[in-house]
Amino acid sequence: MLALEGITHRYRDGSTVSLPTWQGGSGEHWAIIGPSGSGKSTFLHILAGLLRPAAGRIVVGDQELHRMGERALDRFRGRHIGLVFQTLHLVAALTVTDNLRLARYFADLPRDDTRIRTVLGRLDIDELADQYPHRLSQGQAQRVAIARALVNEPLAILAAEPTSALDDRNCRQVMALLTEQARESGASLIVATHDGRVREYMEHTLELAPGTSEAHHA
Ligand SMILES: Nc1ncnc2c1ncn2[C@@H]1O[C@H](COP(=O)(O)OP(=O)(O)OP(=O)(O)O)[C@@H](O)[C@H]1O
Ligand SMILES: [Mg+2]
Repeated sequence: MLALEGITHRYRDGSTVSLPTWQGGSGEHWAIIGPSGSGKSTFLHILAGLLRPAAGRIVVGDQELHRMGERALDRFRGRHIGLVFQTLHLVAALTVTDNLRLARYFADLPRDDTRIRTVLGRLDIDELADQYPHRLSQGQAQRVAIARALVNEPLAILAAEPTSALDDRNCRQVMALLTEQARESGASLIVATHDGRVREYMEHTLELAPGTSEAHHA
């Protein structure tokens, strides 16, 4: 189960964002859709435990993230949440395989190169195992990012704007990859995007209303 309940986040400049209460069942696929500024990134970062809200509850699996300390939160995220974020780049100095090894290492999971080969194979990029990130095309890098999100067998895969820069054909391909891989792993899939095309690939949609934030006037 995934849930956000009564979340209000206060950014450092004092502006606050309130998110609607939401519940997703395990293994469900959700599109979080809304215009710019509606809170999609805030939603995803709160659910990943990357932002700590001023108020509200965050539930992932059987854990209450709002009650966890920083270290426990980092460990939990590394172990149970697969992030596909545009700004979360691969480590340039490491091969694809070493990037995936690192993801396991950070989650305190034992080295498992068989698992890594399996995941790369599922995404049809086994031949990139020893490649460095700068040698990858954008589409290949995206597959590697998805592989890295899957390698620890997460409870939930959270993806931010995975399709915004893609034409219809590549949009379909990436959404097929994400939904198939999530299904095979039994993971929940949460895609936050302003790209309305994503709706047709997902079972559930949460629409965020424009301007859910309140500017703080000092
Ligand atoms: N670092 C920040 N400091 C202050 N306010 C912020 C910050 N990040 C976001 N906000 C505010 O919070 C609200 C929600 O922003 P958020 O980034 O979650 O929206 P979004 O739906 O992801 O938008 P976009 O589609 O443009 O990425 C907006 O009003 C925004 O101005
Ligand atoms: Mg955003």
